[in-house]
Amino acid sequence: MSGEALHFNAFVWPNGYHESAWRVVPDEVRGVLGLPYYADIATTAERGLMDAVFLADNLAIAEYRVTHLPQTQFDPVAVLSALAGLTSRIGLIGTGSTTYSPPWELARRFATLDHLSAGRAGWNVVTTVTPLAAAAFGASSHPAPEERYRRADEFVRVVQRVWDSWADDAVVGDRERGVWAERAALRDPAFHGEFFDVAGIQPFPRSPQGRPVLVQAGQSGPGVALAARHAEVVFSGPPSLTAAVEFRSNLRAQAVAAGRDPGQLLVLPALMITLGSTEAEARGRAERLEELASPEFRWQNALYTAGLDPDGFDPDRPLLSQLDPDAPPPSSRAEKLIAEAHRRPQASLSEIAQQVSGGAGQMHFVGTPEQLADLAIEWQDAGAADGFTVMGSTLPYELRTFVDEVVPILQQRGRYREAYTGTTLREHLGLARPSDV
Ligand SMILES: Cc1cc2nc3c(=O)[nH]c(=O)nc-3n(C[C@H](O)[C@H](O)[C@H](O)COP(=O)(O)O)c2cc1C
Repeated sequence: MSGEALHFNAFVWPNGYHESAWRVVPDEVRGVLGLPYYADIATTAERGLMDAVFLADNLAIAEYRVTHLPQTQFDPVAVLSALAGLTSRIGLIGTGSTTYSPPWELARRFATLDHLSAGRAGWNVVTTVTPLAAAAFGASSHPAPEERYRRADEFVRVVQRVWDSWADDAVVGDRERGVWAERAALRDPAFHGEFFDVAGIQPFPRSPQGRPVLVQAGQSGPGVALAARHAEVVFSGPPSLTAAVEFRSNLRAQAVAAGRDPGQLLVLPALMITLGSTEAEARGRAERLEELASPEFRWQNALYTAGLDPDGFDPDRPLLSQLDPDAPPPSSRAEKLIAEAHRRPQASLSEIAQQVSGGAGQMHFVGTPEQLADLAIEWQDAGAADGFTVMGSTLPYELRTFVDEVVPILQQRGRYREAYTGTTLREHLGLARPSDV
């Protein structure tokens, strides 16, 4: 390789990440509810030697979304378990909430996936932005971000102790002595903290990777701090190359301060892509998606992705006049939205929503496979990224084009693997297997 190898995860979303994707793809509308849709994406990504497929988890959807977008928020671990049987190498990353799951139960689900996939599981740690989840889970209120992140830190430590509750060599299978596993090789998690009191070993031996890979996308101060302490892959979507360089160097510095090796922390920013065989064709495809975008969805989505409930807002009134000055911002995206409202106190909500990017706040690349390969190499050389979490604006089109046309260019330039050299997600990413002590 002439440079370090790039790493790519494929973000899975119904018909593609652009809100208009479902209106332009030729597939049967309900196809996104069946296993063949996910199987096609996973096998395509595996053909492209990508590191992992990545499934989001949005607990509790706001009802306005069913008008505008396909709704397919299955349990990610259930989908990934099915994909484990249809693939052999690709990593399987799923999202799990630290606010709305018990840690022992989450540890068990992801370690199950790690066993069934022979070491390909990853857990995307989220604290859940939407306050609607509280009602769905019978909680009296949605905790503020500071508390969510304090809880998340403790949650991760509990999960790790559950994963480590069997020594690697615990199973001896000694038929003569009648000993399946050595009881002395067990370590009760015995965790007592501010939020959790957890005892009880994992109900099966340590998984092939020891611990599934920890993934995170925080952008706020506490979010980045959590990533610096625990994450092995970070996929936040900074809005520019300069912002990405700053983000990565800050994250790595914080990881070093926490006593970690920054080489064990990969930054794979979220990047939406629209490809075409010429730049004009790619632009045309992106413009078509934008033309179909609903202005109503834009302002609703700007609020929802920031953790605010769109049903309480009027798009034609100034946003500032509709904000509760005493409520703490529920997320870093809400902070940006509120700052914009203060900067333009007379601007209506729908005007402000045009200014802030939708989705996960990531960049949208529009161009040819050659141009995308150039961008990936430029970002890597600038220290902005170790690769990308690729979000096809339409799926499976963008992913297929990425695999068939971008991957070979990167291979020719010596920046991408020619074959998988390992079998586990840790091996693909160059991450060490955590020891059991
Ligand atoms: C590409 C991308 C995908 C995300 N997917 C999820 C998700 O599936 N579920 C979720 O609750 N949050 C998701 N998030 C939100 C992050 O977990 C995080 O809350 C967000 O980046 C804001 O950071 P903050 O919590 O530090 O303010 C995603 C973020 C990005 C950039």
